Amino acid sequence: MDDSRETQSVNAFVTGYPIKHSRSPLIHGYWLKQLGLAGSYRAHEVSVEDFAAFISSLKDGTSGFVGGNVTIPHKEAAFKLADRPDELSQELGASNTLWLQDGELHATNTDGRGFTANLDERHPGWDRSDRAVILGAGGASRAIIQAVRDRGFKEIHVVNRTVERAQELADRFGERVHAHPIAALGEVMQGAGLFINTTSLGMDGEAALRIDFSPLAQGAVVTDIVYIPLKTPLLAEAEEQGFAIVDGLGMLLHQAIPGFEKWFGKRPAVDETLRALIIADM
Ligand code: ATR
Repeated sequence: MDDSRETQSVNAFVTGYPIKHSRSPLIHGYWLKQLGLAGSYRAHEVSVEDFAAFISSLKDGTSGFVGGNVTIPHKEAAFKLADRPDELSQELGASNTLWLQDGELHATNTDGRGFTANLDERHPGWDRSDRAVILGAGGASRAIIQAVRDRGFKEIHVVNRTVERAQELADRFGERVHAHPIAALGEVMQGAGLFINTTSLGMDGEAALRIDFSPLAQGAVVTDIVYIPLKTPLLAEAEEQGFAIVDGLGMLLHQAIPGFEKWFGKRPAVDETLRALIIADM
């Protein structure tokens, strides 16, 4: 018996500009193979000028894709061009995951879910405190503020070199979110149970950060969205000062799950083999 729907290959993409350094094809390729699915997931570079046309071809079915991931610099445009951006995307003004459903293009943003799923997996109980400190106010910070707020933190302190950018986020996310300049870092860290670096500082080839973590609450968790190197200088410092640390690799892996499930119909899992595969590719 031939059921063409069963044997038909489903194709998904990751697009950005540039896109060749994306690790997403490695992640989804691993899951496709592990789950024995006849699908494909590939990097598809699209420039800013061509992005709207690409989305049109996705919507009218001529692209051959059922959906995909969107990364820098297209996340805002993806949100605007989608027919049905969900609530998470609407509040962020950015989407990283697209899928066709009943002829309409749906969009969500999975970065926040990736962040919380990683902490849930690596350090259950990370969300027990009321106070979080987030360093940085870019796109990644935005999704993480939303996730931490939705997880119930009562005071979220965003500290940024350019305080105006932190203030914009505080205005966007409401009364639980506060903006501060870097000079206030030590003060706002007092008694916090969660510290998150969302800046690129500490990434291979970038300047490292030296932070005195001692004002944090006992048992506080320090995490970094940078994952190359896996243990950033910031995490090494926090660990040396006796705090629990969680690296950023799991956020990358977990944010990929909802998209895979939408396109290919099966929910994949993050396992140690997948982690090792990405680490070997660094
Ligand atoms: P993303 O979307 O990946 O979060 P982004 O929007 O470029 O990236 O944001 C980068 C973040 O790292 C910002 O918070 C930025 O601070 P500014 O808003 O002041 O630019 C922060 N950042 C980058 N380099 C920095 C540096 N050398 N010192 C302090 N903060 C830095």
